[in-house]
Amino acid sequence: MEFASKRILITAICRQRKHHYYPLESINRKLSQRSWNIVRFDQDLKRAIEFNSCSQLPVLNRPNEVMVKVLASSVNPLDIEMSRGYGNVMLSLANTIMSHGIDRLTYGRLPVIPGRDFVGEIISKGQSVWNYKPGDIVWGTVPPYENGSHADYVITSDNAISYKPKNLSNVEAAALPYVGLTAWSALSTFGELNSHNSHNKNVLVFGGSGGVGCFAIQMLKYWGANVITTCSAKTIQPLKELTSADECIDYMETENYLRQYPGTFDLILDASASSASRKNYDIIKSVVNHHQKHSNTIPSRSGPLTRVFDRKRTIYVTLSSPLLHNYDRYGLLSGTMSTISDALIDTLNGIQHGISFRWAYYLPNPKALSYIAQLVERGMIRSVTSNVYDFDKAIDAYEAFEIKRPIMGKVILNNDK
Ligand SMILES: NC(=O)c1ccc[n+]([C@@H]2O[C@H](COP(=O)([O-])OP(=O)(O)OC[C@H]3O[C@@H](n4cnc5c(N)ncnc54)[C@H](OP(=O)(O)O)[C@@H]3O)[C@@H](O)[C@H]2O)c1
Repeated sequence: MEFASKRILITAICRQRKHHYYPLESINRKLSQRSWNIVRFDQDLKRAIEFNSCSQLPVLNRPNEVMVKVLASSVNPLDIEMSRGYGNVMLSLANTIMSHGIDRLTYGRLPVIPGRDFVGEIISKGQSVWNYKPGDIVWGTVPPYENGSHADYVITSDNAISYKPKNLSNVEAAALPYVGLTAWSALSTFGELNSHNSHNKNVLVFGGSGGVGCFAIQMLKYWGANVITTCSAKTIQPLKELTSADECIDYMETENYLRQYPGTFDLILDASASSASRKNYDIIKSVVNHHQKHSNTIPSRSGPLTRVFDRKRTIYVTLSSPLLHNYDRYGLLSGTMSTISDALIDTLNGIQHGISFRWAYYLPNPKALSYIAQLVERGMIRSVTSNVYDFDKAIDAYEAFEIKRPIMGKVILNNDK
């Protein structure tokens, strides 16, 4: 009797929705799910994020989407920042644009589910998804304007997933997709490095002990680059052991170190906490000024001092752009003006200091995700998980990520219990 009424309800929901692709059989098991929801924007995580044991199941809206039963997911800075309202204006707009039919009219940003990546099992798929089938174990990401993976089920498109590496557990694998694709986009798309052109290139990575930084160093070392990275004093040793970075510098010593650095960087990647990123750029500018002033007078440890930056080729990529902040602060129109102005200032400033300055963002990339899976299977990229929390203890996980800051490694939610 109960089964029959569930079927009738699901059929009714399906008929109401014009674009509906998932087979009824696959969702008969459940009508609701557990999820973590940002219900209000608040500095206090416990006020901002609430557990819902009976939230609505997500539905497939496009033929290229898959519904995934989440087995594990990671916590990223964006989850915490979004709970405080970061990105609300732009992400709301993007979500409205991407919504369908009645959802677009009735749209309200909250509640929204955090969680940017996952490992999980495909439960159902849209008509145009031909390379995956229900039962496949995949890993992937969810764009920030969509409901995320800190739930039992998540919807994403087939261009944001690939098969999970076989040699990692679900929990280990969940540490990598979002940071991996962000690092990939920063290094490859914005930083113009790849496996063919990185050999012997000099790269400076700010924030090597973070999720993105740690991944970026491993990728760069695999590509044959020389990598110098900054991190807190307590992470120098573990970071060196994990990534084989050529030098790990205490970030309190960055300026002194760079003043003596005898080479030229091809790429500088700022993957540090957003609160530190402007300071890092100021350090770079101050070092350039110092070098310009003393270029003929100060000898370095290893011979005559050369420029740390090359006007023709040094690229500076930062993952902390002012874009979303500007829209949050000034709204759509003034936010756009302010962003254009910031972009101009950063570009001109970069030119003045001999750097091509770029803002980088996470981008979905199925080919990169499969490539990363292969490298993981070959042992070239390792996953570091520091704290693993049961799914229903996510608040503890968010707090651990922010307040108790693990020395290194991702904080993971485990749904598979
Ligand atoms: N634009 C995008 O699409 C995008 C996507 C993903 C991430 N991001 C941004 O990229 C950054 C890295 O992300 P993540 O996930 O790797 O964050 P994370 O795991 O929190 O790592 C941040 C790292 O920054 C380090 N750090 C703090 N102050 C520093 C300083 N003064 N100099 C150098 N390092 C410093 C921290 O080291 P300790 O903990 O040892 O102090 C930590 O390891 C964050 O700002 C994040 O918001 C942007």
